[in-house]
Amino acid sequence: MDPVNIGIIGLGNVGWGTLDVLAENARDIALKLGFPLRVRGLCSRNIAAKKFPADFDCALKTTDWRDIVNLPDVHIVAELVGGTGVAREIVEAAAGCGKSVVTANKELMAQAGADLWDRAIASRINLAMEASVAGGIPIHAVLREGISGDRITTLYGILNGTCNYILTEIERRRASFEEILKEAQEAGYAEADPSADVDGYDSRSKLAILAALAFGERIVPSDIYTEGIRRITPVDFDYAHLLHHTIRLVCAARQSPAGLILSVRPSLIPETTILAGVRGAYNAVWVRGKFGADTFYYGRGAGPHPTGVAVVSDLMRVAREIRGGSPERVSPFAHARLGEYEPISVTLHESAYYLRFRVEDRPGIIAQLATALAAESISIDAVLQLPDANWRDLPFVITVEPTSEASIRAAMARMAELNFFIEPPLALPMERSL
Ligand SMILES: NC(=O)c1ccc[n+]([C@@H]2O[C@H](COP(=O)([O-])OP(=O)(O)OC[C@H]3O[C@@H](n4cnc5c(N)ncnc54)[C@H](OP(=O)(O)O)[C@@H]3O)[C@@H](O)[C@H]2O)c1
Repeated sequence: MDPVNIGIIGLGNVGWGTLDVLAENARDIALKLGFPLRVRGLCSRNIAAKKFPADFDCALKTTDWRDIVNLPDVHIVAELVGGTGVAREIVEAAAGCGKSVVTANKELMAQAGADLWDRAIASRINLAMEASVAGGIPIHAVLREGISGDRITTLYGILNGTCNYILTEIERRRASFEEILKEAQEAGYAEADPSADVDGYDSRSKLAILAALAFGERIVPSDIYTEGIRRITPVDFDYAHLLHHTIRLVCAARQSPAGLILSVRPSLIPETTILAGVRGAYNAVWVRGKFGADTFYYGRGAGPHPTGVAVVSDLMRVAREIRGGSPERVSPFAHARLGEYEPISVTLHESAYYLRFRVEDRPGIIAQLATALAAESISIDAVLQLPDANWRDLPFVITVEPTSEASIRAAMARMAELNFFIEPPLALPMERSL
C-alpha cells in the first residue's frame, strides 16, 4: 500500500529520537498501520553536518523549513523545532497548505494552542501534540479519548523531570539545591539556564495544556499561580518527614464551587500518597473524575526515545485518520469557556500550611508569630524544632490548620514587619487530601 509521507523539521533531541524510532521500528509500524510511514523530507539549519541512516537516503534534506511544508507529497509535518516564533509559522503554513501537523512544542501549545486548534479545524487538518506534555506518558490520548466520558474534577501532576530529580536528590542525599543543580547541569540533565525548569515555567506550560484538555477551557500560562523550587532545603525534607510527608513540585488544577484553581508550587504531600513514590526524572499525572474516580499515569517525562515514541504514535494516528478520510476524530483541544471551569485566584484555595522560619534567636519570637497568625484567624496545629538545629540560625516550623491562601498571605505580610528573620518565611501548602 502507498505510504503516508512525513516531513520532519528540527533534528535535535526529539527529532533524532523520532528518526531512530521510525527507522528501527519501521516494520512494526507498517504492520500496525497496514501501510508504511515514509520520511519524505528533513530540515535543520545545520543539516550538512548530520549523518543519516540509509533509511533516509531518499528524503529531501534542507535548511529551509518552507521546502518541507511546500513539498507537494508531504502529508504530515512534524514541528520539532521548539519556541514560539518559527514553530508557529511552521504550524500555520502547514495548515495553510492543508497539511496535518504533529508537534512536541509545549510552549507554543500552552500559549496559542486554542487558536491553533481553531485554525486546524477551519483548515480540516489534524493537529497532534502528545509529546508536548510528559513525553513518554500518553496523557493526551487519555484525556481526549480514554476517559473523555468522565467529568474531571481534579488533576495533579509532577510534570518536570529536572525539578523532580533535584528534589528527590535533596531528599536522598541531604545535599543543597545549588549542589544538585550544578551536578545535573554538568551531567546534561539540566539546562545551563535552569530557570524554565526550576522556577516552574515549564511545568506551568504543561499544566495549561492538560487543564485545557481536561476541563475544556481556554487556559493560558498566566492563569496559573507559579512558584519554583529554589528555596527548598534538606531541612525542609527533615521536617516534612517528621510530619510523614515529602515535598514535590505539584501541578494542580482543581474544580471548586467558584471555578478552577490552578497552581504549580512545591507542596508537602503525604508519604503514603501515590505521587510521593514518583522519584528521579519521572513524571506522573493523577486524574480524578466525578464518575470514574481516580486514574494514575506514570512514565518518563522527556528524553529522545520516550518523546520520539510519542511523536511517532501521533504520526501513526494522524496517518490513520488521513487514510480513513477523517480530519479529526477526537474532541478538540478546548471549547468555549463553560464558565464553571473559569480560572479563579489561588488565594481562594484552602489548605493546611507548613511555615518554615529562620530567625536570630531571641525571646518572644513564637508569641509574635502566633499573634500574626491569630490576627488572621489562623489556628496553629504544631510547632516543631529539630534538636540538632544551630541556635544562632534556628530553622523551625509551624504547621497550621486548613485556611485560605489569602489568610496565609495576609499573615505573612504582618510577619514581614518583624525584624528577627534571617530570610523571609517559607510557606508551603500541605496537601493532606491527596
Ligand atoms: N528534549 C525533550 O526531551 C523534550 C521532551 C518533550 C518535548 N520537547 C519539545 O520538543 C521540541 C524540540 O526539543 P529538543 O529538545 O529536540 O530541542 P533541540 O535539541 O534544541 O532541537 C531543536 C532542533 O530544531 C532545529 N532548528 C532550530 N531552529 C530552526 C529553524 N529555524 N529551521 C530549522 N531547524 C531549526 C535545531 O537545529 P539547527 O540548530 O541545526 O537548526 C535542532 O535540530 C521543543 O518544543 C521541546 O519543548 C522536548
